[in-house]
Amino acid sequence: MSAVARQTPAPAALDVERIRADFPILSEVRVHGKPLVYLDNGASAQMPRQVIERLVRYQTREHANIHRGVHYLSALATDAYEAARATVRRFLHAREDREIVFTSNVTDAINLVAHGYGRAFLGEGDEIVITHMEHHANIVPWQMLCEEKGAKLRVAPIDDAGEVVMEEYGRLFNPRTKFVSVTHVSNALGTINPVREMIAIAHRHGVPIMIDGAQAVQHMPIDVQSLDCDFYAFTGHKLFGPTGVGVLYGKAALLEKMRPFRGGGDMILSVAFEKTTYNTIPFKFEAGTPPIAQAIALASAIDYVQQVGLERIAAHERELLRHATESLRAIDGVRIIGTAREKAAVLSFYVGDVHPHDVGTLLNDDGIAVRTGHHCAQPVMQRYGIPATARASFAFYNTLDEVDKLAASVRRVQKLFG
Ligand code: ALA
Repeated sequence: MSAVARQTPAPAALDVERIRADFPILSEVRVHGKPLVYLDNGASAQMPRQVIERLVRYQTREHANIHRGVHYLSALATDAYEAARATVRRFLHAREDREIVFTSNVTDAINLVAHGYGRAFLGEGDEIVITHMEHHANIVPWQMLCEEKGAKLRVAPIDDAGEVVMEEYGRLFNPRTKFVSVTHVSNALGTINPVREMIAIAHRHGVPIMIDGAQAVQHMPIDVQSLDCDFYAFTGHKLFGPTGVGVLYGKAALLEKMRPFRGGGDMILSVAFEKTTYNTIPFKFEAGTPPIAQAIALASAIDYVQQVGLERIAAHERELLRHATESLRAIDGVRIIGTAREKAAVLSFYVGDVHPHDVGTLLNDDGIAVRTGHHCAQPVMQRYGIPATARASFAFYNTLDEVDKLAASVRRVQKLFG
């Protein structure tokens, strides 16, 4: 054994039963008299007791508006909110706290960049590169920008496995390319994109790049400095925190030169009818009362995830995905959509000719929650010539036993319709 291997032993396996005890909803909810099997974590994950308690403690003993008062509670809430920013900064390995902007979700973060960077620096004939596997949130804001500016959206194709065709991605760059925005992990396919390489290619052409991390941060450690991305976004409720809070990381130099997205209180230094001076970053982008409680609870969710350990989470989820893929593949007529070599624990599938909504309804009869539909990624569905899929998306609190329940239920669907 090498010295390096001795210093970095494999992480101990997760004690899933102990972890599950932290998530009240997993044991308190029964569906049709059956235990809940929650496999819709890609849409929204559940919250552990520790995060719920943090929310309650904040609302019970710490709440006031922030950055606005000299009184005790305002100072307490301001400190907790700014400490949450520092927690996010450490989580993403960003250089400075001021590179972390609280938004309401990833959609909001992408719209902020499309507005603040895109509207300021893109013009007629310029091009924006995305991929064929983007969520609507990473398509529509850029389309709106293109429409307004006379710019053009260029789309990197994906192959049958659901991987970006990297040669084609590289070929899209030309002197008119002004921005790139790609997802880290596809919500519909589970594909983990080679973002390090995609970032390097964009930078070789001098083009800034944004990474949509909505489906990534809950599955793997992220280091924005090592990746060298210009922007990175994620959302609280998919990371075992509350809804209503998201994060935009941006390199300070870029955030500095961007236009504010929304005007209002807190984003200004001074206001007169003749002229308003904007606040420094990140406050320039946080107009109005921000999601204070949610940001503080998000920090608590990050603490929780880090205590469990993202490396251990990734190892457990790899096992869940492997078992789920093998179990579903073994069922006659099941087609898995998204078979990339690198995948997060997301499994989209189709059962014979059965409409995915019927699959979802029958699984629900067995207490199993999956998402069915186009997953806000209609171009992906068009690519595979299907209207929708059923999608199981796993979290670290899911078990191999739950995967077996999913497979048994899918087998039942297949028999009913087969
Ligand atoms: N974008 C979320 C999903 O993939 C809602 O389900």
